[in-house]
Formats: sequence, structure tokens, C-alpha cells
Amino acid sequence: MVSFQTVKGTHDILPEEVGLWRCVEEKVRQMMEAYNYLEIRTPIFEHTELFSRSIGQDTDIVGKEMYTFSDKGNRSLTLSPEGTAPVVRAYIQNNLGAQSPQVKLFYIAPMFRQENPQQGRFRQFHQYGIEAIGSLDPAQDVEVITLAMGIYSELGLQKLSLRMNSVGCRICRPIYRDVLRNFLKSRISALCKDCVQRHEENPLRILDCKEPACREQTEDIPFMIDHLCPECSRHFAKVQELLSQLDVAYVLDGRLVRGLDYYTKTAFEVLSGELGAQDALGGGGRYDDLIEMLGGSPTPAVGFAAGIERLLMVLSREKRPRVSPRSLDLFVVVLGDDAKKVALKVLRQLRHKLVRCDTDFVGRSLKAQLRAANRLGARYALIIGEEELHRGKAILRDMDKSQQEEIDLNESVQEVCDRLARRSP
Ligand code: HAM
Repeated sequence: MVSFQTVKGTHDILPEEVGLWRCVEEKVRQMMEAYNYLEIRTPIFEHTELFSRSIGQDTDIVGKEMYTFSDKGNRSLTLSPEGTAPVVRAYIQNNLGAQSPQVKLFYIAPMFRQENPQQGRFRQFHQYGIEAIGSLDPAQDVEVITLAMGIYSELGLQKLSLRMNSVGCRICRPIYRDVLRNFLKSRISALCKDCVQRHEENPLRILDCKEPACREQTEDIPFMIDHLCPECSRHFAKVQELLSQLDVAYVLDGRLVRGLDYYTKTAFEVLSGELGAQDALGGGGRYDDLIEMLGGSPTPAVGFAAGIERLLMVLSREKRPRVSPRSLDLFVVVLGDDAKKVALKVLRQLRHKLVRCDTDFVGRSLKAQLRAANRLGARYALIIGEEELHRGKAILRDMDKSQQEEIDLNESVQEVCDRLARRSP
């Protein structure tokens, strides 16, 4: 017999875990809405070029990790590895900027990257993220960062480190790239194979390399923050000033370059000491050129995204909110075919009044059905047996008190509703 398993790097979220997911998603939604971000839902796949153009040809995501396929019309399509490019595409396509100069959007969605699965790194994972489109103001960067940190603190996460850098703009970054190339010229032979290639294509990536040899060679490497143009420098200083004013603690990290090429000016990451090698809980930054690059009119923007699986991993080690499984209000115990017919009617009426109820579909005995009712945490059991049915009666059993009484079947829906109302919540 063939037995199927989940695809490598993917996982089921089982019913017992869904409560916690919903609780986290709910908190995220509440916070996003408190900051006046509106939810957007984009398709799960997009034209491949959307990602290769925005994330960058030389990045690991585009070079190695995208799930790309051709459809029957021979179009190259890719499962979204991240949410920023699709949101920007939707912003341009739907002319969202026409309604307001400031558009603030959020999403919670699955993402796909063919990375080597390990602790905290999956091939299908989930992100929540925001994109604030339209503002150049450093205060907008700070709002984004405050929201990112606010969600963690609302969920009770501690021991987080906010890392900040500025990656400059199209004026100062090319100059810094040359500074890096020159600095590394005499050290190339000591760098790893990947960094030798990065030296030509994108030397900023070398800052991020974890190879000990590369770290050693780059110990005294110049950082972007010391080569910012006056405009980027002013912007970054203002972001820092506002963060300090709000008492948001951060660490400057000159090696922070992010794994996506669209960033300009502010870049940040939130790390957790609890996560091991994959320690980034979330990250983001400014991307003032992306909207124009994708065919829109020049519009600045800033955003962030965070991994939900990683968040849950940290929550499991600190304090997960207690989510008890939703229990049933009523279990209808049915004995015989005639009782089943009546039960289906009663159940439909109750369910349409949003009473959580269920019945037996596998022909269990009275005892086994009552055991099932108990296991499901039902407050009441309505027992419809052949004999009671002939008399137009049913037995209503209070499961906690183990007391039962006969009631009129015709009045059973009202009776159950009344009792539940008296007992709620
Ligand atoms: P990112 O840093 O690539 O940024 O991803 C954000 C977060 O997604 C990471 O910090 C991590 O928590 C989670 N994540 C990424 N890859 C995986 C994986 N393979 N398995 C589990 N979790 C993962 C972005 O995606 C940008 N779009 C963020 C952004 C929004 N920048 C501006 N706006």
C-alpha cells in the first residue's frame, strides 16, 4: 500500500494546534487594525518575473529557492516566496494610490521557499506582514517598527533584539559597493567560493556570510552607515531619534543587509535568542524604488514581515496563551433510524442558532454515545430513543450534574437554547 507523507519542509497544522494559530492571528489582526492597516489578500502564485525583478536575480531566494513552474499556457509562474512584491503589484494594478496618498496594507499568508529544511526553516511557512505605501517620513519607518515590536510584546515575547541598519540609496550604495570591492580586493583568495562570486555581483552580501574565514577577513570592513549620502544619513538619524524617544531599544548592526535586493535606507531585523541558527523572527525596511521599478509612479514605501512558525517556536518556550479546545454545547444521542431523522431536524435548527452540537454517525451504543459526548465536553446530551420518540418526548441530560429529565421533543430546541443562555458563558 502506498502511504503518503507531507512534502519535505511542509507540515500539517493539526486541529489541536489550530486554536493557538487562530489566537496569534487574531492578536495580529487586532494590532494591525489598531494601527489602521487594511487587510489585502493576493493570489498564492504570480508571474515569476515579478519576484525576479523585485527580490533580485542574485539573491538566494530568486537564484535557488523559488517554486517555479510553467502552466499549460507556457507562462512561468512562481508560488509567492514573500508578500511585498505581490502587494506592490496589487497596489499598482488596482491604482490604490489614487484613493489616498497613504495606503497601509497587511496580510497573513503562506509563503514558499525551497530552502534546506531545518529547525525554524520550512518550505511552506506563514508570514504576517505590513506595507505602508506613500510616505518618505522617518516617522513611518518608526510606526512600522513599533507595530512589529508591539505584536511581540502583546504576545508576551521577551529577550528580543531589534537590529537596525541603513543600506543607503541609489546614490550612495554604488559608491559604498566600490569601497567594499576595493577593501576586499587583496583578500579575495581567503574568501569562501560564494563570496568570491559575491565580490563581483553584490559585495554587500559578503557582510552577511557566516563562514569563519570570511568573518575573519571582514572583521574591520567599512560599514554602509559610515558612507551614507546626506539625505540617507539624515533619514537614519531621525529614525533613531524617534525610536529612542519612544523607548524602543535597538542595536546598530552594520552587517545587516537583508536577503532581498529592494531595500533602501532603513533595514531592520528582530532576532530571538531562543531560535538557534534561524534566529530571525521578522524583518523589513524601506523600499523607495520598488514601486517605480515595477511600473508604478515613484512612490516610497516601508514594511516588514514576520514568520508565524518561528513566533510559535519562541512562544512554546516562553508562555503560550492557553487555548482550550472549543467544547460542544450539546450531543444528540440517537437510537434507531427514526430517531436519526428527528435528530437531523433538531440539529439543523440548533446549528442555525449557532449552538455547537453534534450526533453519532457510526451507530454507537447509548453508552458509547454518552462517552463520546463526555469526551467532546458537551454540556448537555439530548437522548432520542425509539420509545420516547413514540410519545413525542426526549431525555435532556445535564452532563456535568449527571441529572436528566424528560422533555417534549417539540420544545427541545427552545429548551436547550434557554438552558444554554442561563448557563453562559
Ligand atoms: P524575510 O526576512 O525574507 O522578509 O522574511 C521575513 C520572515 O519570514 C523571517 O524573518 C522569518 O521569520 C520568516 N521566514 C523566512 N523564510 C522562512 C522559512 N524558510 N521558514 C520559516 N520562516 C521563514 C520578507 O519576506 C520581506 N517581504 C519583509 C518585508 C515586508 N520587507 C518590507 N516589507
